[in-house]
Amino acid sequence: MDYSKMKIPNHVAIILDGNGRWAQERGLTRSEGHQEGFNNLLNLVEHVFKTGVKVLSVYAFSTENFKRSKEEVDFLMELFKTKFRDYAEKLKDSNIKLVFSGSRKSPVDADLINIINECEDMTKDCTDGIMNVCFNYGAHLEITEAFKKMHQDIINNKMSVDDIDEDMVYHYLFQDLPPIDFLIRTSGELRLSNFMLYQASYAELYFPKTYFPDFDGKEFDKALLEYTRRDRRFGGINYEAKNS
Ligand code: IPE
Ligand code: IPE
Ligand code: MG
Repeated sequence: MDYSKMKIPNHVAIILDGNGRWAQERGLTRSEGHQEGFNNLLNLVEHVFKTGVKVLSVYAFSTENFKRSKEEVDFLMELFKTKFRDYAEKLKDSNIKLVFSGSRKSPVDADLINIINECEDMTKDCTDGIMNVCFNYGAHLEITEAFKKMHQDIINNKMSVDDIDEDMVYHYLFQDLPPIDFLIRTSGELRLSNFMLYQASYAELYFPKTYFPDFDGKEFDKALLEYTRRDRRFGGINYEAKNS
C-alpha cells in the first residue's frame, strides 16, 4: 500500500469489540477471545504507526465492563498485567509513548495500577507517536472529572472562569490529546458506548463487521482507503472538491 497517496488521520481511535463473539463462533471461551484480541492489538499497533498515524487511542475496558462476570473481569485484569507490559516494551523500541486514560482507583487492583504507572514511565521520553489505552474509562467519568479539576483550579486562583475555552477543556481530560480524526468500532455494533465523546465530535466513523481478533493490518488499510474517500467539511463546504 502506498500511504503517500492516502489521507492519513492524525488521531485514530479504535473501539476493540467482538472478542466474545469471535470466540463463541469457534466454540471457545470468551477469555480465549480476549487473549486473541489483545495479542492482535500488539501486531496491529506496529502497523498503525507505520502508516504515519501519530496518535492511536484504543478502548480496552470501560467503567461499565465491571458489570461482567467476576470470572471474565478477573481474567481480563490478569491479561492486562502482561499485555500492557508487552505493549510498553514494543512501543519503547519504536519511540512511541504509552499513556492510559481512565480511573486508577479501586476496583482496579494495586498491582495493575503500578504496572500502568511503570509503562507510562518507561516510555515517557518517546517522541514519535502516542498510544493511549482507555482502561477503566468512560467519557462521562472523564468529563465529570474535568469539571471538578477546573473548579478546583478556579478556587485555587490558578485560572478564572473567563479563561475556559474549548481548547482548554482538552487539557483537563485524562490525557491532553488532539481531536479524533477517524473512529473505528469493530464487530458491526453502531454505538459509541461512552467512548471519548468530547474528542470524537468531528471524527469520521467507520463500523467494519470484522471482530477485533481478525482486524489486522490489511483491515486497517481498507479502513484508511475509506477514510481517504471521505469529504471532511467541519460545517463548511470543500469548495476545491466541489469545483473540480
Ligand atoms: C471487547 O469485546 C473487549 C472488551 C470489552 C474488553 P467484547 O467482550 O465486548 O466482545 P463481544 O461484544 O461480547 O463479542
Ligand atoms: C465497549 O464495548 C467497551 C470496550 C470495547 C472496551 P462493549 O462491548 O462493552 O459495549 P456494549 O456493552 O456492547 O455497548
Ligand atoms: Mg462487546
